[in-house]
Amino acid sequence: MSAPTTTTELAYQRCLNAACGATYGVGETLFACPSCGDLLDVAYEWDRLPVPRSLRDFEAKWADRQDPLNFSGVWRFRELLPFAPPGMIVTIGEGQTLLQTADKVGQHVGMNPGCLKLQYEGMNPSGSFKDNGMTAAFTHARMVNARRVACASTGNTSAALAVYCSATPFGFKAIIFIGSGRIAYGKLSQALDHGALTIQIVGDFDDAMHRVQQVATRLNIYLMNSVNPFRLEGQKTIMYRVLEANGWEPPDWVVVPGGNLGNSSAFGKAFIELKHLGLIDRVPRLAVINAAGARTLNHLVCEHGLCWSDGVVDMELTKAYYGRLDQEKVKASTIASAIEINRPVNLKKCLRALNFCDGVVRQVSDQEIMDAKAWVGAGGLGCEPASAASVAGARKLREEGVIAPSDRVVCILTGHQLKDPTATVAYHGTDQENFEKVLGSRGVRRAGYANRPVIVPNELDDIIRTINLYSESASE
Ligand code: F0G
Repeated sequence: MSAPTTTTELAYQRCLNAACGATYGVGETLFACPSCGDLLDVAYEWDRLPVPRSLRDFEAKWADRQDPLNFSGVWRFRELLPFAPPGMIVTIGEGQTLLQTADKVGQHVGMNPGCLKLQYEGMNPSGSFKDNGMTAAFTHARMVNARRVACASTGNTSAALAVYCSATPFGFKAIIFIGSGRIAYGKLSQALDHGALTIQIVGDFDDAMHRVQQVATRLNIYLMNSVNPFRLEGQKTIMYRVLEANGWEPPDWVVVPGGNLGNSSAFGKAFIELKHLGLIDRVPRLAVINAAGARTLNHLVCEHGLCWSDGVVDMELTKAYYGRLDQEKVKASTIASAIEINRPVNLKKCLRALNFCDGVVRQVSDQEIMDAKAWVGAGGLGCEPASAASVAGARKLREEGVIAPSDRVVCILTGHQLKDPTATVAYHGTDQENFEKVLGSRGVRRAGYANRPVIVPNELDDIIRTINLYSESASE
Protein backbone atom coordinates (compact mmCIF):
# COMPACT_ATOMS: atom_id res chain seq x y z
CA MET A 1 0.00 0.00 0.00
CA SER A 2 1.44 3.38 -0.93
CA ALA A 3 1.09 6.36 1.37
CA PRO A 4 -1.39 9.12 0.52
CA THR A 5 0.25 12.17 -1.05
CA THR A 6 0.57 14.92 1.53
CA THR A 7 -1.15 17.69 -0.38
CA THR A 8 -4.15 15.53 -1.08
CA GLU A 9 -5.11 14.31 2.38
CA LEU A 10 -8.34 16.20 1.99
CA ALA A 11 -9.28 13.85 -0.81
CA TYR A 12 -9.87 10.14 -0.30
CA GLN A 13 -11.63 7.17 -1.86
CA ARG A 14 -14.91 5.97 -0.41
CA CYS A 15 -17.01 2.90 -1.07
CA LEU A 16 -20.34 3.65 -2.71
CA ASN A 17 -22.11 0.96 -0.71
CA ALA A 18 -23.85 2.73 2.16
CA ALA A 19 -23.61 -0.39 4.33
CA CYS A 20 -19.82 -0.51 3.86
CA GLY A 21 -18.61 3.08 3.44
CA ALA A 22 -14.95 2.04 3.77
CA THR A 23 -12.45 4.77 2.96
CA TYR A 24 -8.99 4.61 1.37
CA GLY A 25 -6.30 7.13 0.58
CA VAL A 26 -5.95 8.61 -2.88
CA GLY A 27 -2.47 7.09 -2.96
CA GLU A 28 -3.97 3.64 -3.29
CA THR A 29 -4.63 1.96 -6.61
CA LEU A 30 -8.05 0.34 -6.30
CA PHE A 31 -10.77 -0.36 -8.83
CA ALA A 32 -13.30 -1.83 -6.43
CA CYS A 33 -13.71 -1.67 -2.67
CA PRO A 34 -11.35 -4.30 -1.18
CA SER A 35 -13.81 -4.79 1.63
CA CYS A 36 -17.09 -5.39 -0.24
CA GLY A 37 -16.30 -5.24 -3.97
CA ASP A 38 -18.54 -2.26 -4.72
CA LEU A 39 -17.60 0.83 -6.74
CA LEU A 40 -15.46 3.58 -5.25
CA ASP A 41 -15.96 7.34 -5.31
CA VAL A 42 -13.39 10.06 -4.91
CA ALA A 43 -14.61 12.08 -1.92
CA TYR A 44 -13.43 15.38 -0.44
CA GLU A 45 -13.37 17.20 2.87
CA TRP A 46 -15.02 20.18 1.23
CA ASP A 47 -15.20 22.19 4.44
CA ARG A 48 -11.43 22.25 4.63
CA LEU A 49 -10.77 22.96 0.97
CA PRO A 50 -10.51 26.34 -0.76
CA VAL A 51 -13.60 26.20 -2.99
CA PRO A 52 -14.62 29.32 -4.94
CA ARG A 53 -17.62 31.14 -3.51
CA SER A 54 -19.21 31.48 -6.93
CA LEU A 55 -18.80 29.69 -10.26
CA ARG A 56 -17.98 33.09 -11.76
CA ASP A 57 -14.71 33.04 -9.81
CA PHE A 58 -13.45 30.51 -12.38
CA GLU A 59 -13.52 33.24 -15.02
CA ALA A 60 -10.29 34.65 -13.54
CA LYS A 61 -8.52 31.63 -15.08
CA TRP A 62 -9.46 32.69 -18.61
CA ALA A 63 -6.95 35.55 -18.45
CA ASP A 64 -4.00 33.19 -17.88
CA ARG A 65 -4.16 30.59 -20.61
CA GLN A 66 -0.35 30.32 -20.75
CA ASP A 67 -0.63 28.14 -17.67
CA PRO A 68 -1.47 24.66 -19.03
CA LEU A 69 -3.70 24.02 -16.03
CA ASN A 70 -5.80 27.06 -16.84
CA PHE A 71 -5.78 26.26 -20.55
CA SER A 72 -7.19 22.79 -19.89
CA GLY A 73 -10.98 22.65 -19.89
CA VAL A 74 -10.68 20.08 -17.12
CA TRP A 75 -8.08 21.59 -14.80
CA ARG A 76 -9.25 25.16 -14.85
CA PHE A 77 -11.90 23.70 -12.55
CA ARG A 78 -9.28 21.97 -10.41
CA GLU A 79 -10.75 23.27 -7.14
CA LEU A 80 -13.73 21.01 -7.88
CA LEU A 81 -11.59 17.89 -8.35
CA PRO A 82 -8.81 18.58 -5.87
CA PHE A 83 -7.22 15.17 -5.54
CA ALA A 84 -3.84 15.90 -7.16
CA PRO A 85 -0.91 18.16 -6.41
CA PRO A 86 -0.77 20.57 -9.40
CA GLY A 87 2.77 19.43 -10.25
CA MET A 88 1.51 15.88 -10.90
CA ILE A 89 -1.20 16.83 -13.39
CA VAL A 90 -0.98 15.15 -16.79
CA THR A 91 -2.68 17.36 -19.38
CA ILE A 92 -2.60 17.57 -23.16
CA GLY A 93 -4.91 20.57 -23.43
CA GLU A 94 -8.17 18.61 -23.32
CA GLY A 95 -11.60 20.14 -22.92
CA GLN A 96 -11.54 22.93 -25.55
CA THR A 97 -15.15 22.20 -26.38
CA LEU A 98 -18.19 24.09 -27.64
CA LEU A 99 -21.76 24.48 -26.56
CA GLN A 100 -23.53 25.20 -29.82
CA THR A 101 -27.11 26.39 -30.29
CA ALA A 102 -28.55 24.15 -33.00
CA ASP A 103 -31.93 25.37 -34.21
CA LYS A 104 -32.15 23.09 -37.24
CA VAL A 105 -31.58 20.06 -35.05
CA GLY A 106 -33.92 21.61 -32.49
CA GLN A 107 -36.65 21.78 -35.12
CA HIS A 108 -36.42 18.02 -35.66
CA VAL A 109 -36.46 17.43 -31.96
CA GLY A 110 -39.49 19.69 -31.63
CA MET A 111 -37.90 22.52 -29.66
CA ASN A 112 -38.48 26.26 -29.84
CA PRO A 113 -35.67 28.29 -31.45
CA GLY A 114 -32.73 28.75 -29.11
CA CYS A 115 -33.79 25.92 -26.82
CA LEU A 116 -31.59 23.05 -28.05
CA LYS A 117 -27.86 23.18 -27.54
CA LEU A 118 -25.27 20.59 -28.44
CA GLN A 119 -22.23 20.13 -26.24
CA TYR A 120 -19.60 19.01 -28.74
CA GLU A 121 -17.05 16.80 -27.02
CA GLY A 122 -15.65 15.63 -30.36
CA MET A 123 -13.28 18.62 -30.17
CA ASN A 124 -11.09 16.87 -27.63
CA PRO A 125 -7.58 15.83 -28.76
CA SER A 126 -8.60 12.20 -29.28
CA GLY A 127 -12.01 13.17 -30.70
CA SER A 128 -14.25 12.14 -27.82
CA PHE A 129 -15.28 13.07 -24.29
CA LYS A 130 -12.97 10.38 -22.93
CA ASP A 131 -10.05 12.81 -22.69
CA ASN A 132 -11.81 14.56 -19.81
CA GLY A 133 -11.55 11.37 -17.80
CA MET A 134 -8.15 10.27 -19.08
CA THR A 135 -6.36 13.42 -17.98
CA ALA A 136 -7.62 12.80 -14.43
CA ALA A 137 -6.88 9.06 -14.41
CA PHE A 138 -3.40 9.57 -15.92
CA THR A 139 -2.75 12.15 -13.24
CA HIS A 140 -3.64 9.58 -10.61
CA ALA A 141 -1.56 6.93 -12.42
CA ARG A 142 1.40 9.30 -12.24
CA MET A 143 0.77 9.92 -8.55
CA VAL A 144 0.96 6.18 -7.84
CA ASN A 145 3.94 5.62 -10.18
CA ALA A 146 2.06 3.39 -12.61
CA ARG A 147 3.64 2.69 -15.99
CA ARG A 148 1.55 0.06 -17.77
CA VAL A 149 -2.03 1.24 -18.25
CA ALA A 150 -4.87 -0.80 -19.74
CA CYS A 151 -8.51 -0.59 -20.75
CA ALA A 152 -11.25 -2.54 -22.46
CA SER A 153 -12.97 -0.43 -25.02
CA THR A 154 -15.59 -0.01 -27.69
CA GLY A 155 -12.99 2.29 -29.22
CA ASN A 156 -12.94 5.76 -27.75
CA THR A 157 -11.45 4.87 -24.39
CA SER A 158 -8.68 3.02 -26.17
CA ALA A 159 -8.06 5.93 -28.55
CA ALA A 160 -7.84 8.36 -25.63
CA LEU A 161 -5.60 6.04 -23.65
CA ALA A 162 -3.28 5.61 -26.62
CA VAL A 163 -3.11 9.39 -27.17
CA TYR A 164 -2.25 10.13 -23.53
CA CYS A 165 0.51 7.51 -23.61
CA SER A 166 2.01 8.80 -26.83
CA ALA A 167 1.63 12.54 -26.19
CA THR A 168 3.05 12.71 -22.65
CA PRO A 169 6.64 12.23 -21.50
CA PHE A 170 6.05 10.00 -18.47
CA GLY A 171 6.77 6.60 -20.01
CA PHE A 172 3.21 5.23 -19.92
CA LYS A 173 2.67 2.05 -21.96
CA ALA A 174 -0.80 1.46 -23.43
CA ILE A 175 -2.47 -1.95 -23.49
CA ILE A 176 -5.96 -2.08 -24.90
CA PHE A 177 -8.55 -4.87 -25.13
CA ILE A 178 -11.18 -4.72 -27.82
CA GLY A 179 -13.84 -7.13 -29.06
CA SER A 180 -12.90 -8.34 -32.52
CA GLY A 181 -14.88 -6.65 -35.29
CA ARG A 182 -16.70 -4.49 -32.73
CA ILE A 183 -14.82 -1.26 -33.06
CA ALA A 184 -15.31 1.56 -35.57
CA TYR A 185 -12.40 2.07 -37.95
CA GLY A 186 -11.60 5.61 -36.91
CA LYS A 187 -11.02 4.46 -33.34
CA LEU A 188 -9.04 1.34 -34.21
CA SER A 189 -6.80 3.41 -36.44
CA GLN A 190 -6.07 5.77 -33.55
CA ALA A 191 -5.02 2.95 -31.22
CA LEU A 192 -2.71 1.53 -33.87
CA ASP A 193 -1.31 4.88 -34.97
CA HIS A 194 -0.47 5.90 -31.42
CA GLY A 195 1.40 2.69 -30.77
CA ALA A 196 -0.85 0.94 -28.25
CA LEU A 197 -0.49 -2.80 -27.71
CA THR A 198 -3.86 -3.74 -29.17
CA ILE A 199 -5.34 -7.05 -28.07
CA GLN A 200 -8.37 -8.15 -30.05
CA ILE A 201 -10.22 -10.90 -28.26
CA VAL A 202 -12.93 -13.06 -29.73
CA GLY A 203 -15.96 -11.58 -28.01
CA ASP A 204 -17.64 -8.28 -27.35
CA PHE A 205 -17.01 -5.34 -25.02
CA ASP A 206 -18.53 -7.09 -22.01
CA ASP A 207 -16.10 -10.00 -22.53
CA ALA A 208 -13.16 -7.61 -22.97
CA MET A 209 -14.13 -5.70 -19.83
CA HIS A 210 -14.20 -8.90 -17.81
CA ARG A 211 -10.77 -9.94 -19.11
CA VAL A 212 -9.04 -6.61 -18.62
CA GLN A 213 -10.09 -6.55 -14.98
CA GLN A 214 -8.61 -10.02 -14.48
CA VAL A 215 -5.42 -9.14 -16.30
CA ALA A 216 -4.99 -5.80 -14.52
CA THR A 217 -5.22 -7.54 -11.14
CA ARG A 218 -2.91 -10.41 -12.13
CA LEU A 219 -0.22 -8.23 -13.72
CA ASN A 220 -0.67 -5.20 -11.50
CA ILE A 221 -1.51 -2.99 -14.46
CA TYR A 222 -3.28 0.33 -13.91
CA LEU A 223 -6.88 0.15 -15.17
CA MET A 224 -8.22 3.10 -17.14
CA ASN A 225 -11.87 2.10 -17.53
CA SER A 226 -14.55 4.11 -15.81
CA VAL A 227 -14.60 1.76 -12.80
CA ASN A 228 -11.58 3.92 -12.03
CA PRO A 229 -13.17 6.67 -9.91
CA PHE A 230 -10.57 9.25 -10.98
CA ARG A 231 -11.84 9.01 -14.58
CA LEU A 232 -15.22 10.23 -13.44
CA GLU A 233 -13.70 13.18 -11.60
CA GLY A 234 -12.45 14.46 -14.95
CA GLN A 235 -15.75 13.80 -16.68
CA LYS A 236 -17.57 16.01 -14.15
CA THR A 237 -15.99 18.98 -15.92
CA ILE A 238 -18.16 18.44 -19.02
CA MET A 239 -20.98 19.79 -16.89
CA TYR A 240 -18.86 22.67 -15.58
CA ARG A 241 -18.13 23.70 -19.17
CA VAL A 242 -21.81 23.47 -20.08
CA LEU A 243 -22.59 25.80 -17.18
CA GLU A 244 -19.69 28.07 -18.11
CA ALA A 245 -20.83 28.36 -21.74
CA ASN A 246 -24.38 28.98 -20.54
CA GLY A 247 -23.41 31.96 -18.38
CA TRP A 248 -23.36 29.66 -15.30
CA GLU A 249 -27.08 29.05 -15.72
CA PRO A 250 -28.09 25.36 -15.42
CA PRO A 251 -30.18 24.13 -18.36
CA ASP A 252 -33.49 22.35 -17.72
CA TRP A 253 -32.27 19.08 -19.20
CA VAL A 254 -29.01 17.30 -19.90
CA VAL A 255 -29.43 14.40 -22.32
CA VAL A 256 -26.61 11.89 -22.63
CA PRO A 257 -26.12 8.51 -24.29
CA GLY A 258 -25.71 5.62 -21.84
CA GLY A 259 -23.16 2.84 -22.40
CA ASN A 260 -20.97 1.97 -19.44
CA LEU A 261 -22.76 4.84 -17.64
CA GLY A 262 -19.63 6.72 -16.65
CA ASN A 263 -20.76 10.08 -18.01
CA SER A 264 -24.20 10.02 -16.46
CA SER A 265 -22.63 8.98 -13.15
CA ALA A 266 -20.05 11.75 -13.35
CA PHE A 267 -22.67 14.36 -14.27
CA GLY A 268 -24.77 13.34 -11.27
CA LYS A 269 -21.75 13.60 -8.97
CA ALA A 270 -20.94 17.02 -10.39
CA PHE A 271 -24.42 18.31 -9.61
CA ILE A 272 -24.53 16.68 -6.16
CA GLU A 273 -21.30 18.47 -5.27
CA LEU A 274 -22.20 21.81 -6.86
CA LYS A 275 -25.48 21.83 -4.94
CA HIS A 276 -23.75 20.81 -1.72
CA LEU A 277 -21.25 23.62 -2.17
CA GLY A 278 -23.99 26.16 -2.85
CA LEU A 279 -22.58 26.86 -6.33
CA ILE A 280 -25.89 26.16 -8.09
CA ASP A 281 -29.39 26.51 -6.74
CA ARG A 282 -31.18 24.45 -9.39
CA VAL A 283 -30.28 21.00 -10.68
CA PRO A 284 -30.97 20.07 -14.33
CA ARG A 285 -32.94 16.93 -15.05
CA LEU A 286 -30.89 14.12 -16.54
CA ALA A 287 -32.01 11.88 -19.41
CA VAL A 288 -29.91 8.79 -20.13
CA ILE A 289 -30.49 7.21 -23.53
CA ASN A 290 -29.73 3.57 -24.29
CA ALA A 291 -29.64 2.01 -27.74
CA ALA A 292 -32.51 -0.49 -27.96
CA GLY A 293 -29.98 -3.23 -28.71
CA ALA A 294 -28.08 -2.53 -25.47
CA ARG A 295 -30.84 -1.55 -23.10
CA THR A 296 -29.93 -2.87 -19.69
CA LEU A 297 -30.49 0.44 -17.91
CA ASN A 298 -33.76 1.13 -19.69
CA HIS A 299 -35.00 -2.37 -19.00
CA LEU A 300 -34.12 -2.39 -15.31
CA VAL A 301 -35.27 1.16 -14.56
CA CYS A 302 -38.35 1.49 -16.76
CA GLU A 303 -39.65 -2.07 -16.65
CA HIS A 304 -38.51 -3.20 -13.21
CA GLY A 305 -38.39 0.06 -11.30
CA LEU A 306 -34.74 -0.37 -10.28
CA CYS A 307 -33.69 2.70 -8.33
CA TRP A 308 -31.07 4.12 -5.99
CA SER A 309 -33.05 3.60 -2.76
CA ASP A 310 -30.55 5.55 -0.64
CA GLY A 311 -27.75 3.31 -1.85
CA VAL A 312 -29.46 0.00 -1.10
CA VAL A 313 -29.84 -1.03 -4.74
CA ASP A 314 -31.64 -4.29 -5.50
CA MET A 315 -28.75 -5.99 -7.30
CA GLU A 316 -30.66 -9.28 -7.40
CA LEU A 317 -32.79 -7.77 -10.18
CA THR A 318 -29.64 -6.98 -12.12
CA LYS A 319 -28.13 -10.41 -11.54
CA ALA A 320 -31.33 -12.12 -12.66
CA TYR A 321 -31.36 -10.01 -15.84
CA TYR A 322 -27.72 -10.83 -16.63
CA GLY A 323 -28.52 -14.49 -15.94
CA ARG A 324 -31.30 -14.36 -18.53
CA LEU A 325 -29.01 -12.68 -21.07
CA ASP A 326 -26.48 -15.48 -20.58
CA GLN A 327 -29.07 -18.23 -20.73
CA GLU A 328 -30.58 -16.88 -23.93
CA LYS A 329 -27.11 -16.02 -25.29
CA VAL A 330 -28.17 -12.42 -25.90
CA LYS A 331 -25.32 -10.11 -26.84
CA ALA A 332 -25.54 -6.33 -27.12
CA SER A 333 -26.13 -5.26 -30.73
CA THR A 334 -26.40 -1.74 -32.12
CA ILE A 335 -24.92 0.38 -34.90
CA ALA A 336 -23.92 2.74 -32.09
CA SER A 337 -20.95 0.51 -31.34
CA ALA A 338 -19.64 2.86 -28.63
CA ILE A 339 -22.62 1.98 -26.43
CA GLU A 340 -22.92 -1.67 -27.43
CA ILE A 341 -22.70 -2.72 -23.79
CA ASN A 342 -25.02 -4.97 -21.81
CA ARG A 343 -23.25 -4.94 -18.46
CA PRO A 344 -22.67 -1.29 -17.59
CA VAL A 345 -20.10 -1.16 -14.81
CA ASN A 346 -21.34 2.15 -13.38
CA LEU A 347 -24.98 1.10 -13.11
CA LYS A 348 -25.25 1.92 -9.40
CA LYS A 349 -23.64 5.32 -9.70
CA CYS A 350 -25.95 6.12 -12.59
CA LEU A 351 -28.95 5.26 -10.41
CA ARG A 352 -27.64 7.74 -7.84
CA ALA A 353 -27.40 10.39 -10.57
CA LEU A 354 -30.92 9.65 -11.82
CA ASN A 355 -32.21 9.92 -8.28
CA PHE A 356 -30.53 13.25 -7.58
CA CYS A 357 -31.33 14.79 -10.96
CA ASP A 358 -34.95 13.60 -11.19
CA GLY A 359 -33.76 11.62 -14.19
CA VAL A 360 -35.41 9.55 -16.86
CA VAL A 361 -34.18 6.73 -19.07
CA ARG A 362 -35.25 5.89 -22.61
CA GLN A 363 -34.12 3.61 -25.40
CA VAL A 364 -33.96 4.49 -29.10
CA SER A 365 -33.75 2.24 -32.15
CA ASP A 366 -30.86 2.21 -34.60
CA GLN A 367 -33.20 3.81 -37.14
CA GLU A 368 -33.85 6.70 -34.75
CA ILE A 369 -30.14 6.99 -34.00
CA MET A 370 -29.10 7.14 -37.66
CA ASP A 371 -31.82 9.66 -38.54
CA ALA A 372 -30.83 11.85 -35.59
CA LYS A 373 -27.20 11.57 -36.65
CA ALA A 374 -28.13 12.86 -40.11
CA TRP A 375 -29.89 15.89 -38.57
CA VAL A 376 -26.89 16.60 -36.39
CA GLY A 377 -24.64 16.43 -39.45
CA ALA A 378 -26.91 18.73 -41.43
CA GLY A 379 -27.50 21.20 -38.62
CA GLY A 380 -24.62 20.83 -36.19
CA LEU A 381 -21.01 19.83 -36.01
CA GLY A 382 -21.62 16.15 -36.73
CA CYS A 383 -21.17 13.18 -34.45
CA GLU A 384 -20.77 9.43 -34.32
CA PRO A 385 -23.85 7.19 -33.97
CA ALA A 386 -23.73 6.73 -30.17
CA SER A 387 -23.73 10.49 -29.66
CA ALA A 388 -26.83 10.89 -31.79
CA ALA A 389 -28.72 8.69 -29.33
CA SER A 390 -28.92 11.78 -27.12
CA VAL A 391 -30.69 13.77 -29.84
CA ALA A 392 -32.98 10.86 -30.74
CA GLY A 393 -33.77 10.49 -27.04
CA ALA A 394 -34.56 14.19 -26.67
CA ARG A 395 -36.99 13.91 -29.58
CA LYS A 396 -38.68 10.94 -27.95
CA LEU A 397 -39.05 12.82 -24.68
CA ARG A 398 -40.46 15.82 -26.59
CA GLU A 399 -42.99 13.60 -28.34
CA GLU A 400 -44.03 12.18 -24.99
CA GLY A 401 -44.39 15.68 -23.59
CA VAL A 402 -41.80 14.99 -20.89
CA ILE A 403 -39.63 17.75 -22.37
CA ALA A 404 -41.52 20.96 -23.22
CA PRO A 405 -40.67 22.91 -26.43
CA SER A 406 -39.55 25.86 -24.29
CA ASP A 407 -37.28 23.80 -22.02
CA ARG A 408 -33.58 24.52 -22.33
CA VAL A 409 -32.03 21.25 -23.40
CA VAL A 410 -28.37 20.30 -23.77
CA CYS A 411 -27.59 17.10 -25.68
CA ILE A 412 -24.08 15.77 -25.25
CA LEU A 413 -22.35 14.87 -28.52
CA THR A 414 -19.84 12.46 -27.06
CA GLY A 415 -17.73 11.62 -30.10
CA HIS A 416 -16.49 13.10 -33.38
CA GLN A 417 -18.24 12.48 -36.68
CA LEU A 418 -15.10 10.95 -38.24
CA LYS A 419 -14.88 8.18 -35.65
CA ASP A 420 -17.27 6.01 -37.63
CA PRO A 421 -17.35 6.93 -41.32
CA THR A 422 -18.64 3.46 -42.22
CA ALA A 423 -22.06 4.16 -40.68
CA THR A 424 -22.24 7.65 -42.20
CA VAL A 425 -21.35 6.54 -45.72
CA ALA A 426 -23.72 3.57 -45.55
CA TYR A 427 -26.58 5.93 -44.61
CA HIS A 428 -25.92 8.65 -47.17
CA GLY A 429 -24.43 6.54 -49.95
CA THR A 430 -26.15 4.98 -52.94
CA ASP A 431 -24.73 1.47 -52.55
CA GLN A 432 -27.75 -0.59 -51.52
CA GLU A 433 -25.65 -3.62 -50.73
CA ASN A 434 -23.52 -1.61 -48.35
CA PHE A 435 -26.62 -0.10 -46.75
CA GLU A 436 -28.00 -3.58 -46.12
CA LYS A 437 -24.71 -4.90 -44.79
CA VAL A 438 -23.98 -2.04 -42.40
CA LEU A 439 -27.43 -0.75 -41.46
CA GLY A 440 -30.11 -3.12 -42.78
CA SER A 441 -28.63 -5.86 -40.62
CA ARG A 442 -29.33 -3.58 -37.62
CA GLY A 443 -32.97 -3.03 -38.50
CA VAL A 444 -32.44 0.33 -40.22
CA ARG A 445 -34.90 0.34 -43.13
CA ARG A 446 -34.75 3.86 -44.52
CA ALA A 447 -32.27 6.66 -44.92
CA GLY A 448 -34.96 9.35 -44.87
CA TYR A 449 -32.52 12.20 -44.29
CA ALA A 450 -29.76 11.01 -46.62
CA ASN A 451 -27.71 13.47 -48.63
CA ARG A 452 -26.91 11.25 -51.61
CA PRO A 453 -23.81 11.75 -53.72
CA VAL A 454 -24.76 12.43 -57.32
CA ILE A 455 -23.10 10.26 -59.92
CA VAL A 456 -22.42 12.14 -63.16
CA PRO A 457 -20.53 11.24 -66.34
CA ASN A 458 -17.19 13.00 -66.68
CA GLU A 459 -18.65 15.55 -69.13
CA LEU A 460 -18.67 19.31 -68.51
CA ASP A 461 -22.25 19.82 -69.75
CA ASP A 462 -23.58 17.00 -67.62
CA ILE A 463 -21.78 18.34 -64.58
CA ILE A 464 -23.10 21.87 -65.13
CA ARG A 465 -26.65 20.61 -65.75
CA THR A 466 -26.48 18.57 -62.55
CA ILE A 467 -25.23 21.49 -60.47
CA ASN A 468 -27.96 23.75 -61.82
CA LEU A 469 -30.63 21.14 -61.26
CA TYR A 470 -29.62 20.30 -57.71
CA SER A 471 -28.62 23.73 -56.50
CA GLU A 472 -31.86 25.21 -57.83
CA SER A 473 -33.96 22.57 -56.16
CA ALA A 474 -32.01 23.09 -52.95
CA SER A 475 -32.73 26.83 -52.95
CA GLU A 476 -36.45 26.45 -53.63
N1 F0G B 1 -20.60 7.93 -26.55
C1 F0G B 1 -19.40 7.55 -27.01
C2 F0G B 1 -18.91 8.18 -28.27
C3 F0G B 1 -18.65 6.58 -26.31
O1 F0G B 1 -17.47 6.21 -26.77
C4 F0G B 1 -19.18 6.00 -25.16
C5 F0G B 1 -18.46 4.99 -24.40
C6 F0G B 1 -20.42 6.45 -24.72
C7 F0G B 1 -21.11 7.41 -25.43
C8 F0G B 1 -21.03 5.92 -23.48
O2 F0G B 1 -20.54 6.58 -22.38
O3 F0G B 1 -19.89 4.67 -20.96
O4 F0G B 1 -20.03 6.98 -20.07
O5 F0G B 1 -22.10 5.72 -20.68
N2 F0G B 1 -17.45 4.41 -24.83
C9 F0G B 1 -16.63 3.49 -24.04
C10 F0G B 1 -15.38 3.11 -24.78
C11 F0G B 1 -17.34 2.36 -23.45
O6 F0G B 1 -14.83 2.04 -24.54
O7 F0G B 1 -14.89 3.93 -25.55
P1 F0G B 1 -20.65 5.95 -20.93
